[in-house]
Amino acid sequence: MTLLLVLLLPVAVLAAAWFLTVQVLSARHPEPRWRWDGIDPSVARFPKGFLWGVATAAHQVEGHCDDCNWADWEKETGPDGQPRIKDGQVAGAACDTWNRYPEDIRLMQELGVGAYRLSLEWSRFEPTQGAWDPAVVAHYHEELAALRAAGLQVMVTLHHFTHPRWFEAMGAFEREENLAIFVRFCERIFEEYKDEVDFWCTINEPAVYSVTGYGLGRFPPGKQDFLLMARVQRNLLLAHARVVRAIKALPGGERSRIGVVNNVNPFDPWRRWHLGDWIVARMLDRVFNTAIQDYLCTGVYSVQIPGLVRYEATDPEVKGAGDFQGLNYYSHSLVAWQPDPKEFFRFEYHPDDIRTDMPYALYPEGFKRSLHLVARAGLPIYVTENGIADARDDRRETFIERYLFAMHRAMEDGVDVRGYFYWTLVDNFEWAEGWDMKFGLYELDMTTRDRRLRPGAKALVRAIRERTAT
Ligand code: FCB
Repeated sequence: MTLLLVLLLPVAVLAAAWFLTVQVLSARHPEPRWRWDGIDPSVARFPKGFLWGVATAAHQVEGHCDDCNWADWEKETGPDGQPRIKDGQVAGAACDTWNRYPEDIRLMQELGVGAYRLSLEWSRFEPTQGAWDPAVVAHYHEELAALRAAGLQVMVTLHHFTHPRWFEAMGAFEREENLAIFVRFCERIFEEYKDEVDFWCTINEPAVYSVTGYGLGRFPPGKQDFLLMARVQRNLLLAHARVVRAIKALPGGERSRIGVVNNVNPFDPWRRWHLGDWIVARMLDRVFNTAIQDYLCTGVYSVQIPGLVRYEATDPEVKGAGDFQGLNYYSHSLVAWQPDPKEFFRFEYHPDDIRTDMPYALYPEGFKRSLHLVARAGLPIYVTENGIADARDDRRETFIERYLFAMHRAMEDGVDVRGYFYWTLVDNFEWAEGWDMKFGLYELDMTTRDRRLRPGAKALVRAIRERTAT
């Protein structure tokens, strides 16, 4: 009997420790799921001056950004012999927005939005290092002038995943010495366009760029090196801080509004009782979300994952850098640990989840959570991207209604959200997924390049026209 007790004691202690740890984790990281059948999302109202917009990025829409890193990547095959992009697709002529922007401006007016987020393509300005193309400078002046003439505010992204191939060849953001080259590009762009731009976004999604390009190897340069991934992530945010400082020091810089754009994707454990699932979820949350937010709040970047990566840096200039923070929010991920050293976790879905065409489900509750996370930096927030891939257009309306409701709940809590940009105006080249993901409010006819409004878009139009104070 005593022997049995002695043998069982450690088991009981371990079980109690497991139980307590899981309880504490659960209380600290709840995963709310609202009862949507009892919610009327149309009650959400938005204040006067709330900025509604749509977002795009140059390489995804313009067509023929042939001198950028992605143009090369799209032609490659990976180590598995498969093309880098699904079914070997390429951006190619894309939506031909380079030529059709006047038409797109009319579409924005039809929607009733007051702003447009676009990126200016560095590889067009400077296809070879030091050679600046005056025709490109003039083209973007024309486009920005047309946007302003249509009464639209302009939000420009300076780096949205793409850059010139010569910058890629130098190691891009892997090397801290290269940041000065990007800063110089941004200064030049600011000097050129400062009177035509209302908001500047420095870097789009440091987390996606670093994790997908250097952790998963699915974006260029296709590396799988966790230490490099952490270094690139830190360098991107450092670049953001240096661009802010450089622009603020230029004539007119004091009037500029500049922010970094972060994608927040909460990671939740599939089995809330399972310590393995919790470890994976907390680890991924650190690498993707909180390391970045903490860095912006404190100036200390730190990712410490035993056996995987340890990287720490202190850069006081990053603390509080910028006038606002952009949030791109799409969904969360439910992760389950599995005993396979090569793929130690998998993604899961609740049986009642509404799935999108991308590998994630509708999770508006996470929008509110992510807004609260980003609010910790103490800056005004613009939602710089939010949208759904929905080729059948049978979930878009629900998506928009529920996500706007969740954003509104965060605003009721006091989160300072100033605007919302829908991703995206028209179906476009969805990076590694190619053309199959239909995020557009407008459907793109791939042969004629004609755009046609999707019925699901009306939920956004309603919010703008009927639920925003005038
Ligand atoms: C984001 C990107 C954007 C678009 C959406 C769907 O990660 O910033 O360019 O591809 O996802």
